[in-house]
Amino acid sequence: MSGTRATPATGTTRQAGRTPAGGARAQVSTSDLSGDTYIRRAGRQLIVSIYGAMRVIRLYPPENEAVRNALADLAETARALREKEHELELRASNEFIFVNSTRLRLDLDNYASFSQILSVLRACGVGVVRVHGGAQARDWLVFLSLLLSQSKSDDDVTAFDLTERLAAAGVEAFALGAPLVTDDDSDYLQRAKEAAKRTYSQSVAVTKEVMNSVRMGASPNIKKIKRVVQTIVDQILNEETSLVGLTTIRDYDEYTFTHSVNVCIFSVALGRRLGLSKMQLYDLGLAALFHDIGKSRVPLTVLNKVEGLNDDDWRWLAAHPWLGVLALFHMRGQQELPYRAMVVAYEHHMKTDLTGYPKSTRPRLQSIFSKIVAVADGFDAATSRRAYQTVPLSPAAVLAGMRDNPRRGMDPVVVKGFINLLGVFPVGTLVVLDTFELAVVHATNPNPTAISRPIVRIVSDDRGNVLFPGHLVDLTEQKGDGTFARTIIKTENPDRYGINVGDYFV
Ligand SMILES: [Fe+2]
Ligand SMILES: [Fe+2]
Repeated sequence: MSGTRATPATGTTRQAGRTPAGGARAQVSTSDLSGDTYIRRAGRQLIVSIYGAMRVIRLYPPENEAVRNALADLAETARALREKEHELELRASNEFIFVNSTRLRLDLDNYASFSQILSVLRACGVGVVRVHGGAQARDWLVFLSLLLSQSKSDDDVTAFDLTERLAAAGVEAFALGAPLVTDDDSDYLQRAKEAAKRTYSQSVAVTKEVMNSVRMGASPNIKKIKRVVQTIVDQILNEETSLVGLTTIRDYDEYTFTHSVNVCIFSVALGRRLGLSKMQLYDLGLAALFHDIGKSRVPLTVLNKVEGLNDDDWRWLAAHPWLGVLALFHMRGQQELPYRAMVVAYEHHMKTDLTGYPKSTRPRLQSIFSKIVAVADGFDAATSRRAYQTVPLSPAAVLAGMRDNPRRGMDPVVVKGFINLLGVFPVGTLVVLDTFELAVVHATNPNPTAISRPIVRIVSDDRGNVLFPGHLVDLTEQKGDGTFARTIIKTENPDRYGINVGDYFV
């Protein structure tokens, strides 16, 4: 393998992804020629062989001579490539195919084979195929047949499911990975990110308007806020990561408003995981956005107090759940009262054992919406910097507390769903890697078994140089010897490093 490509795969992938196809040709230096020209040529040959094999597998039974020849040819092409390069990894990213981190050039001759293979991999939820040594013709037959049949079926599978099925068929020659979401340059992600930013700032603005008008004694129109909630729900159903990432901004000055929007985003994303329908998510989102509306009736002098809250102040604060119910009664433009929002406003500080507030005189069950909002609210409040909480807790510590401390009074099933949503290391956590790099958790891994190996953004190199905007890597990525390229050692307080986590999400 040439020295220039010994860098971690993703770094090279990003560079390659950014280089326009024509530009790459102009920039090839003499030292690259031997390695890169070889891998490009051999890589294309491999794609053509895979395509050829897929075509005959579809047409003829496995014992047919055309099938046997195509598979023998494919196995040999792959073997030779792997032998020369010591590894063989195919990666599909957007419209490109990479072989061992080198992007193959697409031209008219290979257009059909490229697009066919890309669409089959996409339909199967596969983004990475690692080919081990010793892959025989039979292994390729089983693998390609599985991909072909799966790509035509309607059930959703992951790369992980397919690896299991291959193992069940006795085929161990391939390791499959989910498509990487590490391509920052993709138009789709860029558009989703822009849309998320618009949705977020618009939601904060409308929430501010509504809460301020309640404070002024007016009765605000609920229609506007309903539209905001619908946009949030639609966005989450469409692409969740961007909007959930924005919750890490945690603007100190706008805490009351960003908090409401964050709780809404978390609740909707969590409700979706718990299987709520779109209509239910609209209802839940509205309730979540309004959960603290009662605070608009608490004097600002109490809300902004830094320390020394007296009994009266606490009474005001503890009243915000039922003050919220009153505020909701006064909303305009509402044929029916937002009943669920009232319940959530009233119940969101209750605990599962009813020890929270307001005090319940009779036994009652907290509604599922209230349980969801309580978890989202507890998480956002504990991880934010506020007037009376100058040092926010690390998101991972907060999640662990919710899960392990029964006194927090959270519903264990809802907390579990929340941990599945955010990962063991929630989005926005600053982590130290075993490479001595620092990284900010960007998203959970698409592979559901890799709950402690999220997608992270490297924000500081091994010598402590801060990188901005940094680059994304998948922590399930492995080195040539099968060990992980990077692993989280511990979480860290971003303040210690002067890092503002929210900056990496806008
Ligand atoms: Fe509250
Ligand atoms: Fe709250």
